[in-house]
Amino acid sequence: MARNPFSPSSGMFPPYFSGRKREIEAFEMKLNALEDGTAQHMAIIGEWAIGKTSLLRKFEEIAAGHGLLTYYCVARFRGGEMFSNIVSGISAEIQREFGAGLLQKISKTVSLESLSLTLFGLKGELKFSSSDSAAFPFREYIVHAWNEIKDKKKGIVILIDDLDTVEDFKETMLALRAASMEVAQNARLMFVIAGAPVLFDKMYDAHAPLVRFFEPLQLSRLNNEEAKLALTQPLKETGKKIDEGLVTRLLKLCSGHPYYIQEFGYYLVEVSKGTRITEGDLELGFRRALNDVAIKIFDKRLSEISKTQQKVLSVLTPKKAISQKEIADLAGRAGVLSSTVRRNLRVLKEKGFLNQIDKGEDKGKYIAEDSLLIEYLGQIL
Ligand SMILES: Nc1ncnc2c1ncn2[C@@H]1O[C@H](COP(=O)(O)OP(=O)(O)OP(=O)(O)O)[C@@H](O)[C@H]1O
Ligand SMILES: [Mg+2]
Repeated sequence: MARNPFSPSSGMFPPYFSGRKREIEAFEMKLNALEDGTAQHMAIIGEWAIGKTSLLRKFEEIAAGHGLLTYYCVARFRGGEMFSNIVSGISAEIQREFGAGLLQKISKTVSLESLSLTLFGLKGELKFSSSDSAAFPFREYIVHAWNEIKDKKKGIVILIDDLDTVEDFKETMLALRAASMEVAQNARLMFVIAGAPVLFDKMYDAHAPLVRFFEPLQLSRLNNEEAKLALTQPLKETGKKIDEGLVTRLLKLCSGHPYYIQEFGYYLVEVSKGTRITEGDLELGFRRALNDVAIKIFDKRLSEISKTQQKVLSVLTPKKAISQKEIADLAGRAGVLSSTVRRNLRVLKEKGFLNQIDKGEDKGKYIAEDSLLIEYLGQIL
């Protein structure tokens, strides 16, 4: 049986990388600027499973293709360990590309103490002989490393994923910014960081200029054409045919969310027996996919809000803005007291379940992006 190409899991690179043209263009412009000597850093911001990790991986591939040294990591460290983590990662890259000899040379120059080359799997084992904070040896290290590789590489790109999750966020960000400013004259180094929407607020609260320093780009859902490619390109690989009408129905349910597309694609292929995907496959595949998404995401997310808030959310029509009054009428029929609707809408908005339109003729109205979540609510309430 043919392999199922879809990747229905967080952090898994998709079988067909769709869209993100704006983000890729912005990244390539910054790569060019870096090669010309100006470092511009980036922050990729987006809701859960919208594709941050996959985009960072794509950036890594692009940067490597442009002849830059790259290092990707997930911010599972405490802030204090960040620099040694990055040094280990870059060192491993240098060793892989240029051999252990060059790495030995660099580490001697910057008095790295316990640099055993086989050590690099063991993060945190790396010790700097300087008793100073790790930031000082980090600068030294980067500048020396850059001096050794600058004839061979056009720059260094460090990508840090899920940075909003570090506990000592403010110190970490300020240290990162300080370090990159200090090396800017002597090394070509660029940072790309990524995190949930709260990353933006956290940066702003910590120190407003951070938002200018790490220029934020908000990741949105895929548009219809991009979503279609994300579904149909991997399907082609399986040799299975699907009617246009079924594709349209499926894409509507996914509302451009790349993770849902992977889930649906995966279960469609799993349940389909023949060479053509049928109406029955779509229904069964949909149920299985929804069940999986519910276990992985929805149940946990919905446990963050009350039953009443779930009822209020369930009356929203996906993709169509409706007023507080209309919501109150509909929710009233489901037994929600109209006097509580305003407060519940505020909580739903704060927790990212819906948006309130802030301009145009629908100003003040509410809209929910996620048709699938609303569909699921309809089933469980
Ligand atoms: N551009 C894309 N085209 C097609 N599929 C994508 C794209 N980006 C992400 N996906 C798919 O969507 C799912 C989620 O992607 P990813 O893990 O990159 O998101 P994330 O924002 O990092 O998630 P998390 O919040 O869990 O960290 C994965 O199954 C991935 O393969
Ligand atoms: Mg991720």
